[in-house]
Amino acid sequence: MKKLLKWLACTVLGLVGLIVIGAVIVYVSSNAKLTRTHPVAVQPIAIPTGPEAVKRGEHLALSRGCVDCHGKDFAGAKVMDDGAMGRIYGRNLTPGSAAMAGYTDLDWVRAIRHGVARDGHGVFIMPSEEYSKLSDADVGALVAFMKTLPAVERADVPLSFGPVSRVLLATGKMKLSADVIDHAHLVPPVVTPAVTAEYGKYLAVACSGCHGPNLSGGKIAIGPPDWPPARNLTPHATGDLAKWTEADFFRAIRASQRPDGTALSPVMPRGFAAMNDTELGALWAYLRTLPPVATGTR
Ligand code: HEC
Ligand code: HEC
Repeated sequence: MKKLLKWLACTVLGLVGLIVIGAVIVYVSSNAKLTRTHPVAVQPIAIPTGPEAVKRGEHLALSRGCVDCHGKDFAGAKVMDDGAMGRIYGRNLTPGSAAMAGYTDLDWVRAIRHGVARDGHGVFIMPSEEYSKLSDADVGALVAFMKTLPAVERADVPLSFGPVSRVLLATGKMKLSADVIDHAHLVPPVVTPAVTAEYGKYLAVACSGCHGPNLSGGKIAIGPPDWPPARNLTPHATGDLAKWTEADFFRAIRASQRPDGTALSPVMPRGFAAMNDTELGALWAYLRTLPPVATGTR
């Protein structure tokens, strides 16, 4: 009996030891990724001025996600706040934040296109891997608009990372954009906004992070484990879109509602609702050209 107890105690102690060692490895490895600095040579681009460029930039900021994480007033908003993932808030990007004092055009381009903050760390969760594929014209317009933001004084919520975020980072299941982008070889595309599959393909880069490189949907790698799977956007019988009309697609994006009346999960970003008819028409045209592939075969 005594022997058995001793054996049990040793096993439990051994297990606890292993868990502690595992936790330390996860902590050290995730911290290394979060604090590593990325020296990038940012290529300057022309930042346009004038009301038209600013308006275009505002449209992009509203429809490409910036507003979802940085708030309607761009002074910061909750991205997620729970024990598992941690406390993740988009920063205050207005001149009301002391951290934005002296923020230059190059700093904006570094953050948007390279996913690298002014202090050199890789920006957490912001989809710069997608923004790195924006045209010079679009990045320029975005920066033009961001520079006109009125000051809103609100303190940034310091980021803190929960155990699930750290495990996802340490195991490489979740990657910082700055670790994925080929910083030295960015080739910004040149595009013409029009209802064409070609323009739709350019826009669909914003969907691939969740719906997968071939847009077949399935488990979302960049999000917490409790997110629902993304749906199949290809016209395959295992998804819904083969049966949808263009009007169904517009309603799904603009009103977050499927043809059967059910609502889309809030994980599907609401900001895309601000896309105009040209953008949604181009996306639909592109989705129709995709080879049908079974759901989740990314
Ligand atoms: C999914 C959420 C998300 C989206 C979408 C997003 N951001 Fe961010 N952004 C963040 C978070 C979180 C931080 C702070 C992260 C950190 O410091 O590691 C941040 C930081 C920044 C910074 C500060 C970088 C620095 O120098 O410290 C800028 C500038 C920025 N975002 C601009 C933008 C713009 C412009 C867009 C749209 C094109 C955008 N963000 C879209 C979440 C997001
Ligand atoms: C942050 C992750 C994310 C991004 C980015 C994203 N989606 Fe989604 N999307 C989802 C999730 C999750 C669902 C499933 C929602 C549900 O089950 O209620 C979804 C569902 C959809 C649906 C409904 C399909 C159906 O069969 O019901 C459409 C249409 C859609 N997304 C289009 C897009 C398009 C177009 C883009 C890019 C412009 C995009 N999504 C970007 C996460 C995302």
